Amino acid sequence: MPGNTLGTMFRVTTWGESHGPALGVVVDGCPPGLALSAEDIDDELAWRRARDTRVSTSRREPDRVEIISGVFEGLTTGTPISLVIYNRDVDSSAYDDLKNLFRPGHADYTYLHKYGIRDRRGGGRASGRETVARVAAGAVAKKVLDQHGITVLAYTLALGGIRAEKMDFEEIYKNPLFCPDPDAIPRIIQRLQEVKESGDSVGGIVEIRARGCPAGLGEPVFAKLDAMLAAGLMGIGAVKGVEIGSGFAASDMLGSEHNDGLGPSGFLSNNSGGILGGISNGDEIVARVVVKPIPSIEKEQQTVTENGTPTTLSVKGRHDVSAIPRIVPVCTAMVRLVLADMLLQQKAIE
Ligand SMILES: Cc1cc2nc3c(=O)[nH]c(=O)nc-3n(C[C@H](O)[C@H](O)[C@H](O)COP(=O)(O)O)c2cc1C
Repeated sequence: MPGNTLGTMFRVTTWGESHGPALGVVVDGCPPGLALSAEDIDDELAWRRARDTRVSTSRREPDRVEIISGVFEGLTTGTPISLVIYNRDVDSSAYDDLKNLFRPGHADYTYLHKYGIRDRRGGGRASGRETVARVAAGAVAKKVLDQHGITVLAYTLALGGIRAEKMDFEEIYKNPLFCPDPDAIPRIIQRLQEVKESGDSVGGIVEIRARGCPAGLGEPVFAKLDAMLAAGLMGIGAVKGVEIGSGFAASDMLGSEHNDGLGPSGFLSNNSGGILGGISNGDEIVARVVVKPIPSIEKEQQTVTENGTPTTLSVKGRHDVSAIPRIVPVCTAMVRLVLADMLLQQKAIE
């Protein structure tokens, strides 16, 4: 019920706040005998770190994981894996001004109404920092998927209204935006800088592709693969929509256009995004998420105090100008977590 756990067979529970001493995750259900080191996890965490202040927060976290349990002599033991990432670069002073205010677009209002108390420092658990635990868990899920030849790739499809036109997947890890179109990168960076200088923020679209998935993953009817992917991805802060395959464009297509015909070597197209009836069909799984603009902006906005007095707010502090690019490795992690869980559920049936 408390909503901090994802998965059935490969189960992750995250914990921790943005400005608390640490964040972490317990991964339960990981098969034994997988090689897992802190470096494997740190490598994944490094992709989520803010690397370029032109496009991300100036908060500098080293993000080194400590493996507390579940690994012995470099191998998973099958017991719960507990991972901790300590917060090192915490500065809560900017949040003193927000003590009794609600940031428009953020979770301050809803957390207070839900719990009657909120950790305002850095957004508490509604902070983008919470996603560090997901990425750590995703590194464990990757180990499970590696064994079965399943790979997940995510990248920036659009940011600040500029769309990647070229799809050069080799480019993705070479630039701070995870963008597959080298021509779009300078234009996006310029746009982000302009928006940042004006005290505002932007949104965009991330596309995720999973390759090597066998047919048969997904548990109809209430744990369909597309439903679980949507739940995992929508569970990331700032994600406001998920598309699978041709997604919303399907509304303008004919059945004869949208249906993926079959030939002797498989499907002839992939409008389904690799999922039919909630079950993977063996084709590439394709999903997209819409990411809203960052809520904490310097531009003055109307709000109220906790006791309802109208006021205005200009948010200071070390905020991202967009959740993209840092959300890209988080999307990868969430898809890995869902696929590892679905894979282990399918193995149990087989
Ligand atoms: C990687 C990442 C980084 C984020 N950085 C910030 C940030 O610097 N400032 C901020 O106000 N929100 C940031 N967010 C967005 C908030 O976490 C999110 O908007 C908030 O929790 C409200 O949830 P909702 O947008 O899903 O309604 C970030 C989100 C992610 C995933």
